[in-house]
Amino acid sequence: MTRVRLGVNIDHVATVRNARGEIYPSPLRAAILAQKNGADSVTIHLREDRRHINEKDLIEIKSNLKIPLNLEIAATKEMLGIAIKRKPPFICIVPEKRKEITTEGGLNLKYRKTFLKKLISRLKKNKSRVSLFIEPKIKDINEAKNLKADCIEIHTGKFCKLVNEKKSFQNELQKIKNAVNLAVFLGLEVHAGHGLTYKSAKILSRIKGIKEFNIGHFLIGESIYDGLGKTIKKFRKIIRR
Ligand code: PXP
Repeated sequence: MTRVRLGVNIDHVATVRNARGEIYPSPLRAAILAQKNGADSVTIHLREDRRHINEKDLIEIKSNLKIPLNLEIAATKEMLGIAIKRKPPFICIVPEKRKEITTEGGLNLKYRKTFLKKLISRLKKNKSRVSLFIEPKIKDINEAKNLKADCIEIHTGKFCKLVNEKKSFQNELQKIKNAVNLAVFLGLEVHAGHGLTYKSAKILSRIKGIKEFNIGHFLIGESIYDGLGKTIKKFRKIIRR
């Protein structure tokens, strides 16, 4: 049996905290609980507008966690500076638009390509594993390889929405499978995330090339009913092969 890694995204613990400008619930406490209950890594997205996680959270979580911290950042000079200083073991570069509710799609790898290449190389020299959050598109997989990323994370948002709405998802699933196959062939480590629920995670867990799932919004929502520990354990079971 291979252990597929589960990254638990705790951004929305900070969303609840920030909604009232309070100091609770604590993202650090959630990170420690995630670690205790079988998460392989903890993911946080430090957004330009700091709408959930802030730099204080990043410092606290990084210094108290034994499992790797996966920091999601936009490809900007500010975020590069923070990542160099804080040295998270894992970094995922994501697109960011101020007005979006969540990360709506994968990176445009042609946009500011020279900066992106420099960013990846600088972060790798700083000993962070670098992943690019992209759509399941063949040209983006090839581009990620050219940019010398260590990993890709496939944006599963479209697929998950189709599953949630009980629409036909076979085309989107095939795109993901093709993307995974090419990435594995090219020697890229493959991750997947965005919008995953128990049902969509179960379907995607059958794709052997996917080594890591990063799950947040649904998982934090389910924790309201079942608790964080139980919810993580349930996801762990679902993604097991
Ligand atoms: N992976 C990446 C790169 C993301 O940006 C996000 C959302 O922040 C996730 C995974 C988790 O998505 P969700 O919160 O919908 O589970």
